[in-house]
Amino acid sequence: MATVLDSVRAFFAPVTTYTIDAETPADVVARETLLDRAMGPDRRKKSSEKIRRNRLPAEGLALVARDAHGHAIGTVRLWNVEAGISMDGTPVDALLLGPLAVDSSFEGKGIGGALMRAAIMEATHRGHGAVLLVGDAAYYERFGFSARKTQHLVMPGPFQRARFLALELKAGWLDGAVGMIVASGRKLG
Ligand SMILES: CC(C)(COP(=O)(O)OP(=O)(O)OC[C@H]1O[C@@H](n2cnc3c(N)ncnc32)[C@H](O)[C@@H]1OP(=O)(O)O)[C@@H](O)C(=O)NCCC(=O)NCCS
Repeated sequence: MATVLDSVRAFFAPVTTYTIDAETPADVVARETLLDRAMGPDRRKKSSEKIRRNRLPAEGLALVARDAHGHAIGTVRLWNVEAGISMDGTPVDALLLGPLAVDSSFEGKGIGGALMRAAIMEATHRGHGAVLLVGDAAYYERFGFSARKTQHLVMPGPFQRARFLALELKAGWLDGAVGMIVASGRKLG
């Protein structure tokens, strides 16, 4: 009986239509409002924010989720960084992901997951080797992130090691990477 009722409810539930799209300048106000609401005013004090300050996101890697009216209801951006140096002393190019946020009235409908999968797919397509982020492992491990490959890396400021996660897009990309995450992306202006 419960199964029948669930099916009936699912049939009549309002359908959330959304699309994942490249962010445009027209999305900036909606994106910033969304981030203030989702993360609070302290969001600009994070260590990740130091890496993003005065930089542009990595080429093609600022994405939004839009509702049926084209309004931005979710955001994710990725940033070019150097993830320490490799064993032969060369900087390890990587991406830092964040912030990821979905408008609270649209949460739990798979939009965060869709943004993550689109970002990972686009980063892979563009030839990047790894994505790093600081966030809840319980959420990000479903996309393959773990703290295993960040053990010898540090953020430039306070961070919780258990929340410092990475996903390799190319196997072994972060092997032997040691040192601090530094911004390497295009500067604003
Ligand atoms: C985290 C966030 C982006 C998820 O967006 P969403 O569209 O609701 O995500 P999805 O619908 O794809 O996934 C929802 C699932 O993730 C789970 N989830 C959400 N946040 C989680 C967290 N911090 N830890 C563990 N699981 C989490 C939900 O419980 C739900 O689980 P279910 O599928 O078993 O029901 C959104 O809740 C948000 O913007 N939060 C505020 C900002 C934030 O915390 N950003 C991430 C920084 S760590």
